[in-house]
Amino acid sequence: MEKFYLELPTIGRKQEALDYLQEHVDNGSDLNGTGGLKDCLEGITYEEWLDDVIKLQEKEYAESKNKVTGTTFFTIRESDNRIIGMVNLRHYLNDYLKNFGGHIGYGIRPTERRKGYAKIQLYLTLIEAQKLGIDKVMVDCVNTNIGSEKTILALGGEFDRQVHEDNRDVTLNNYWIDVNESIEKFKDEYEQYVTKGKVK
Ligand SMILES: CC(C)(COP(=O)(O)OP(=O)(O)OC[C@H]1O[C@@H](n2cnc3c(N)ncnc32)[C@H](O)[C@@H]1OP(=O)(O)O)[C@@H](O)C(=O)NCCC(=O)NCCS
Repeated sequence: MEKFYLELPTIGRKQEALDYLQEHVDNGSDLNGTGGLKDCLEGITYEEWLDDVIKLQEKEYAESKNKVTGTTFFTIRESDNRIIGMVNLRHYLNDYLKNFGGHIGYGIRPTERRKGYAKIQLYLTLIEAQKLGIDKVMVDCVNTNIGSEKTILALGGEFDRQVHEDNRDVTLNNYWIDVNESIEKFKDEYEQYVTKGKVK
C-alpha cells in the first residue's frame, strides 16, 4: 500500500517543485495550496519563494506582509519520493479568509488525480492542524469543483454557507471540519496511508 507524508519545502526539492508547477501549466490546471509557487513563472526565483514560505510560519514576518501565519507542505509519496500534492495550512483566519480561502488550500498534481490522494492529503493536514491546536478548520471550494467538495465532505466537512467572491466572480461553498472529531472518525480509513515517524 502506498504511504504518504507532509514535508516542508527545501532547496533540495527545487527542480521537482518546478516540475510540479510546470505540469499544472502543461495541463492548463488550477494550482492551489502552493503558497504562491506560481510566482516562479513571473520572475520570482524558487529560492525567493522558499524563503518566503518558510518565514511565513513566523508571526512577525507574516504580519509585516499583511498575511496570517501558515505552513506550506509538499505531500510526498514514500515509494518513489515524489511530490504528488501541495497544501497550505493557515494557522488562523483574518477577515478575508473567514469568507474566502479558509484554513486550508490544496491541490494534487494533474497526473496523480483520481486516486484518492486529495483525501489522504487532507487527513494529513488535519493532523498538522491538531498539532497546532486548531480545533476547527474552515475549508472552501468553488461550488462547481466536485472533486474538492467530495474531498471536504469525505473528511467530515459540514456545510456552513455560500459566498460570492466578486474578484473572481465565483460562488464558494464554505465548510467547517472539527479537527479532533474527524481524525478520530476517519483514522481507521486513512491512518494506513500515513508514513510513520516522518512528518515534516
Ligand atoms: C480537487 C483535487 C484536489 C482533487 O484531487 P484528487 O486527488 O483527484 O481527489 P481524490 O482522488 O482524493 O477524490 C476525492 C473525491 O472526489 C472525486 N473526484 C475527484 N475529482 C473529481 C472530478 N474531477 N469530478 C468528479 N469527482 C471527482 C473522487 O471520485 C472522490 O470521490 P469519492 O470520495 O466519492 O471516491 C484536484 O482535482 C486538484 O488539485 N484540482 C486543482 C486544484 C483545486 O481545485 N484545489 C482545490 C481548491 S478548493
